[in-house]
Amino acid sequence: MPAPSKKPFGQAGKALDGVRILDFTHVQSGPTCTQLLAWFGADVIKVERPGVGDITRGQLVDVKGADSLYFTMLNHNKRSITIDSKHPQGKRVLNELIKKCDVLVENFAPGALDRMGFTWEHIHKLNPRMIVASVKGFGPGPYEDCKVYENVAQCTGGSASTTGFRDGPPLVTGAQIGDSGTGLHLALGIVAALYQRNRTGRGQKVLCAMQDGVLNLARVKLRDQQRLAHGPLTEYSQYGEGVPFGEATPRAGNDSGGGQPGWILKCKGWETDPNAYIYFITQAPVWGAICDLIGEPSWKTDPEYATPRARLPKLKAIFARIEEWTMTMTKFEVMEKCNAVDIPVGPILSMKEIAEDESLRKTGTVVEVDHPVRGTYLTVGNPIKMSDSISDVKRSPLLGEHTDEILTKVLGLDKKTVAEIKGSGALSAPEKEGKAAA
Ligand code: COA
Repeated sequence: MPAPSKKPFGQAGKALDGVRILDFTHVQSGPTCTQLLAWFGADVIKVERPGVGDITRGQLVDVKGADSLYFTMLNHNKRSITIDSKHPQGKRVLNELIKKCDVLVENFAPGALDRMGFTWEHIHKLNPRMIVASVKGFGPGPYEDCKVYENVAQCTGGSASTTGFRDGPPLVTGAQIGDSGTGLHLALGIVAALYQRNRTGRGQKVLCAMQDGVLNLARVKLRDQQRLAHGPLTEYSQYGEGVPFGEATPRAGNDSGGGQPGWILKCKGWETDPNAYIYFITQAPVWGAICDLIGEPSWKTDPEYATPRARLPKLKAIFARIEEWTMTMTKFEVMEKCNAVDIPVGPILSMKEIAEDESLRKTGTVVEVDHPVRGTYLTVGNPIKMSDSISDVKRSPLLGEHTDEILTKVLGLDKKTVAEIKGSGALSAPEKEGKAAA
């Protein structure tokens, strides 16, 4: 280990300085992963199809002619090179990049990388130190060849069957646990593989299946599946309502997933504001404070209410009583009153409120970024804060913006070779020649 740096914290470079990523990702899962690595300081070279690029550049477009927010918000701090990976000269460039990079990250459909000719064997032979990291929909098994998007993963990973209300259909969540969640898992796998490489000197394959990633996030529901064998799930409101349990973990509405009962309650203004609600947790240690606040001090000693066990069958009525109280105040007033006596509550914040939240802007979690085509836009910065590796958010690259820079500075190709490769058409879309940035 080197001697501890004498430089002030935050001025000794970044955690992944010196790591170069060959970023073959598209859409959301892979780009989430490589964006995180870029925020940690890795040099991320995004390879895109000439003329088109990552398909999200043109999806859900809000400003005509500009890259969509879908793309810009997932591809900060990266460089872009356009390469036709099926063209012989494109393969030549990619082979050279493989030799110069530490990690290849991809989330193509199963088999696509092999069909391009970039098998693990080929890559490993060219660069035995290279880590090859992939997102796929499913791991090895009957579904391994399937293409998968976010909601497919939420459904196959156990999230949808356990989300929603008992008397309604399964629900998907707004949080992108299949795509962004799996990208996060993959980033951890890559960092661990880089660490192991320091010892072994060799790369390895890292695979995150979206089904596995979602299941990992839904593991408390697999916990409940096994508990069912030993009797009803007493903390589910279904138990208090006397509704028998079936064979599988049921949907539990807004019940808390832990051992402390919770529910979403109306606050002042709920009739017109869809987000005038608060999540209220009747945590056992603060039961007395809850009783005092809502004006039911006798519940502190009344054996019908005094213990968590006694309360379980009556949770619906208890939350109805607490709601009578929360409805007299805004969600922020409830938050203030409850937090003053350590009662955990969560106001339902709208995206508008989050976008305007000053404290989130101060920490860099919500960031304003300038873009040459679309102007200023908001994004989510690095949610992982490190004291000696400070993230800055740089705008996403234009399609092929760094093609020349990468060919000459990363690969060290001379002008003649660059001209030869460009002339072959491997870096530009034939039908849009002259228009492509490459
Ligand atoms: N040059 C030339 N060809 C390229 C290229 C490039 N730079 N980049 C991609 N391609 C080709 C691929 O080789 C593939 O060709 P092939 O089918 O002949 O082998 C083709 O483009 C399509 O790639 P594919 O990954 O199949 O894209 P798709 O739009 O059909 O499917 C997904 C999209 C996301 C469903 C699929 O990629 C997938 O299942 N990925 C794994 C799971 C995943 O990450 N899903 C979540 C995405 S957020």
